[in-house]
Amino acid sequence: MVTDISHDKTEVGNYFIANYPPFSVWSADHVGAVQEALSRPSTSVEPMGLYLHIPFCRKRCKFCYFRVYTDVQAKSIQDYVDTLAREVEILSQQPAVQGRDFRFVYFGGGTPSFLSERQLLGLVEKLRRNIHWDKADEVTFECEPGTLSQPKLEAIKEIGVTRLSLGVENFDDAILEENGRAHKSKEIFRAWEWIVATGFPQVNIDLIAGMIGEKWDNWRRCIQQTIDLAPDSVTIYQLELPFNTRYSKELNVLGQETVAPWSLKRDWLNFAYDEFLSHGYEVSSAYTLRKKSNPPTRFLYRDNLWHGSDLLCAGVASFGHLSGVHYQNIDGLEPYQSAVAEGRLPINRAYPVPNDERLIRELILQTKLGHWNANYFREKFGVDVFEHFRDATNDLVQRGLAQINTNEFQLTRDGLLRVDSLLPGFFKQEHRVDRYT
Ligand SMILES: C[S@@+](CC[C@H](N)C(=O)[O-])C[C@H]1O[C@@H](n2cnc3c(N)ncnc32)[C@H](O)[C@@H]1O
Ligand code: SF4
Repeated sequence: MVTDISHDKTEVGNYFIANYPPFSVWSADHVGAVQEALSRPSTSVEPMGLYLHIPFCRKRCKFCYFRVYTDVQAKSIQDYVDTLAREVEILSQQPAVQGRDFRFVYFGGGTPSFLSERQLLGLVEKLRRNIHWDKADEVTFECEPGTLSQPKLEAIKEIGVTRLSLGVENFDDAILEENGRAHKSKEIFRAWEWIVATGFPQVNIDLIAGMIGEKWDNWRRCIQQTIDLAPDSVTIYQLELPFNTRYSKELNVLGQETVAPWSLKRDWLNFAYDEFLSHGYEVSSAYTLRKKSNPPTRFLYRDNLWHGSDLLCAGVASFGHLSGVHYQNIDGLEPYQSAVAEGRLPINRAYPVPNDERLIRELILQTKLGHWNANYFREKFGVDVFEHFRDATNDLVQRGLAQINTNEFQLTRDGLLRVDSLLPGFFKQEHRVDRYT
């Protein structure tokens, strides 16, 4: 179930909708479906991508809900990296994967830049014995500022990264400290100089609206500081408190009044939109603004995923999607590593998505872009989405959250600022109460 933001209080629960149907309906009973998809030579016309999960961080941020490990010995990290390479080797031998090129690659986490140059280059050297991404149009790599150095950035560039994403979150040292970030602003500026000197085709900055301790004056400064750095894109999340974050567990002690309500986070995001729009940026999704350029800066991982591409995943607890089947790897380092050591793919749960739910999935994910065209769904699914989702679309239009012009559906600014809360309106009734865990 998705948290109800109409209460305005930022309560414990999920806001961001990463996929559909919710993860809690995926199950071990369906693992056979993804194994079967892997064992068939693919006839898919969908592009294929690869997600590689690096689950380590210097420190666990108090707001973070990802599966991450801190205080890990170098030997355990090397073991993990070796396991990841072995998992990719097993994946590369699957009939569904053979003969297909990776069109996009994503090193996500956790913190991929936590790896040393040696670990990273060693990992890529091992991966290249079985796969390559020479035909990929985009290779993204997530970084935490304090883990970077000039030589590490050179190594990141050497492995073919085209899109670097930097988790800045905020520029105020007291806020960074309070929220448990491992870096301070000095490390952001230092890393930025190295990033510019190394030169990547595309750099994104992540910010969070509503970190604990945030105030209007500081947020205005943060936005100005980001504009001054002039990244190719900026991604702004609204702070949410899923069940497993440290703040969610400590909310009683922390006090509800210290957490900005949803309406204030939307005001902050709205302000950020205005500032970026007046400084040469344009909206690229509900979360991301990109610098205007010709051709426009693209984010292929997101766009492919939101249009139903195949995505192989490797790493503990990582998520994939192949030939219409969702799947997730084992969540837990030891069991994940044992499975791979036994020569098995470490898949733990799956969900074959029926056609009607594939339609819903693509429609809600594309709604996060802020607009879609009904012709796309008519051609791909043979469905008139305005008819099929009449109640949901009419409701949004009546509430001033969306507009429809012939075949084009477009969220208004107000709709964009609260997009994830609107998506359950398109869900099948039975999935509206399912948990996103
Ligand atoms: C995997 S992290 C990015 C790389 C690196 N680990 C870092 O934090 O610098 C992905 C992003 O998720 C966002 N995030 C994590 N927890 C969040 C939360 N509770 N609410 C909103 N955004 C969150 C942060 O903006 C973070 O940059
Ligand atoms: S936000 Fe990033 S650095 Fe912080 S714990 Fe989560 S994954 Fe690690």
